[in-house]
Amino acid sequence: MRVVVVGGGGRESALVRAIARHGHSVWATHANPAFAGRAQVMPGDPVTVARTVAAELVVVGPEAPLAEGVVDRCEEAGIAAFGPSAAAARLETSKVHTKNLALKYDLPTATAHVVRAGDGFVVDQPWVVKLDGLAAGKGVWVCDTAAEAREALAAAFAARPDAEVLLEERLIGPELSVLGLCDGERVVPLPAARDHKRRFDGDLGPNTGGMGAIAPVPVTPGMLAGCHDVLRRAVTAMAAEGTPFRGVLYGGFMLTASGPKLLEFNVRFGDPECQAIMALFDEDPVPWLLGAAKRRLPDGSPRFKDAAACCVVVSAKDYPEGRANTPILRLPADAADLLVDQAGTALHNGELWATGGRVLSVTGLGATPADARARAYRGLNEVEFAGAAWRMDIGR
Ligand code: GLY
Repeated sequence: MRVVVVGGGGRESALVRAIARHGHSVWATHANPAFAGRAQVMPGDPVTVARTVAAELVVVGPEAPLAEGVVDRCEEAGIAAFGPSAAAARLETSKVHTKNLALKYDLPTATAHVVRAGDGFVVDQPWVVKLDGLAAGKGVWVCDTAAEAREALAAAFAARPDAEVLLEERLIGPELSVLGLCDGERVVPLPAARDHKRRFDGDLGPNTGGMGAIAPVPVTPGMLAGCHDVLRRAVTAMAAEGTPFRGVLYGGFMLTASGPKLLEFNVRFGDPECQAIMALFDEDPVPWLLGAAKRRLPDGSPRFKDAAACCVVVSAKDYPEGRANTPILRLPADAADLLVDQAGTALHNGELWATGGRVLSVTGLGATPADARARAYRGLNEVEFAGAAWRMDIGR
């Protein structure tokens, strides 16, 4: 099949590998040196690229083109596209919309208030402060004190004075990312993953796009069933609202003493969760991606390796503020149990450079989570560029 992949980060690197290895012809709308030998890079509008190469499927990685309506535009052009419509993508683009949906359909979630600048709302507890709208991972402040919450609210209004801001009760428990493929009616859950969002070991430091992920996460069957139930009820709710959800729905959950509570929805594969999940995918993903796009997922569930995956992100030393700008001296090669995905890299005169905040990721596979972790960290010994940094406790 002829497939166009939109996006050029680590998530798309994993998607391109998984699709290309099953003999499909892949074009990518963004450059990534890791696409070499797997996809032809053809920069441009995804609909134009898809028309040019007579693509039968467009797979959209990042949230921004989904919010812009790329899937709607592909469908208008008669091209199947994996991902939600712009209307359905509001599950990620508007936290206030999602909170209202959760309350209307009784999905378990934290209590919250919506505030605007000048409301006079008295901040007297350590809320989680969430700026409405896409904020490239920078619109959420998890506060330990009421004073921090007041500062965060001020920062949110300084960033966008006319925005709505969600103040959410801070929930306690481990987090879990549960993703499911959706065709508008059915949800097919993928192995549960855990992202490590803080920059430093011990979950310290600033929030990032994600410093590593593991899958599957050992959780009780009851907790997992509760998360799957939320995804299914959300997809039913979206259909009832006239905005059916197709693509991959990512539920971010807090596993509390009283069961899973929804923290957020994303409308795309997580990055780096995708790298860990795709490493476990043990069949051709295209029938699943195409089925979601064409409103009929295949029956059953995809086959996953009976293994564990541990993905560790290698970033610039001063990420999330800074970016790298230095040659990459050494990288491990892909192997059956080690997958290297590039994100913030570029070729300069044929030489591979680290150019981004999150530069690349290394995913180890193993029979157990400990084996997968050990494999990933052995692979990291072969990563060499000035300032290369990673957490040592992913999956520990
Ligand atoms: N890793 C979190 C995200 O992709 O939003």
